Amino acid sequence: MRAYLLTGYGAVADNVRLAEMPDPRAAAGEVVIDIHAASLNPIDFKLVHGALKRISKYKLPRPIGFDASGVVTSVGPGASKFRPGDAVYVRASRDTIGTFAEQIALPEKLVAPKPAAISHAEAASLPLVGLTTLQGFGRAGARAGQRILIHAGSGGVGSFAVQYAKHLKLHVTSTTSSRNADFVKSLGADRVIAYDRDNYLEQGGGYDIVYDTLGGAFTVDAFKVVKRGGVVISLSGPPDRDFARREGAGLVVRIAVWLMGRKVYAASAAAGAAYVWFFTESNGDQLRDIAALVDCGAIKPVIDREFAFEQLPEALAYLEAGRARGKVVLKVR
Ligand SMILES: NC(=O)c1ccc[n+]([C@@H]2O[C@H](COP(=O)([O-])OP(=O)(O)OC[C@H]3O[C@@H](n4cnc5c(N)ncnc54)[C@H](OP(=O)(O)O)[C@@H]3O)[C@@H](O)[C@H]2O)c1
Repeated sequence: MRAYLLTGYGAVADNVRLAEMPDPRAAAGEVVIDIHAASLNPIDFKLVHGALKRISKYKLPRPIGFDASGVVTSVGPGASKFRPGDAVYVRASRDTIGTFAEQIALPEKLVAPKPAAISHAEAASLPLVGLTTLQGFGRAGARAGQRILIHAGSGGVGSFAVQYAKHLKLHVTSTTSSRNADFVKSLGADRVIAYDRDNYLEQGGGYDIVYDTLGGAFTVDAFKVVKRGGVVISLSGPPDRDFARREGAGLVVRIAVWLMGRKVYAASAAAGAAYVWFFTESNGDQLRDIAALVDCGAIKPVIDREFAFEQLPEALAYLEAGRARGKVVLKVR
């Protein structure tokens, strides 16, 4: 089979190459998936640039890619949830990444049946952004009637999060550029603030939850618009201090995490609102919940652009430009 390998850290052009590899075999508890489509996430290019170097000590060269949809071709000893021929989708864990490939062997607990009514390309677009949103909203205790600000409602995460928040009956305000304002409205947002026309900090606050997909100044500023007792969930801000401990990070990383978070923790304390940062976990059971949301029409996949398998470097560059409307997909078959 062919698979993209990460060979070092730095520019995609120098460190990602397509290689011929032995077909994977299903070990105990695993299934082998013939991949039909994979989707890209910013973590993929960040990983190439070295973002996970300190916490995931990958042995290089190694395959990369988190999201996939495909068909089970074989089942390992003790694996009982799937049979050859089953259409499935998955988000690989940090230790098992490798979906930018023609096949992958993965623990069956990470895998779920593909939503029936959608294509492999659409199914591949959902796992990472869907799991991120279910887990983030779960940590925030999101519930009907609350007011949420979702930054970048037009992006991969945002386009899922806006739909999911409406499904949970929250009142949704979302930021995007004016080019994407109608699109984000069409996903269900009650109010869209176009950042090239209006400053969201001057458009009222009092949100129960701020879903910070942007990081940087947006993380600190979230505490200007969240209400006392509210929650800022950040995907891109500084890791929370507990994260470094959970990861078993050494002293240098823990000090770095502490320093990175200083301004955010000060803002959180002053606003009387919680700061939650997390790294998405793979979870086959939650993918079953997401499939049910797709099957009942609550979530519609949003694909911006599909690239041929041979075009992964171009697809990563396109995503890294930061203008994707929904998800970027790699067609493997
Ligand atoms: N911690 C975790 O486990 C985790 C999980 C998932 C994602 N993430 C992170 O979350 C971030 C978002 O991921 P993604 O997949 O949604 O990225 P993405 O799809 O690349 O986001 C692109 C979108 O962002 C919008 N955008 C850019 N600047 C904006 C601004 N100033 N205000 C409002 N919208 C803006 C763009 O809209 P316009 O073109 O209209 O500007 C575009 O639609 C990434 O940094 C990713 O690494 C972290």
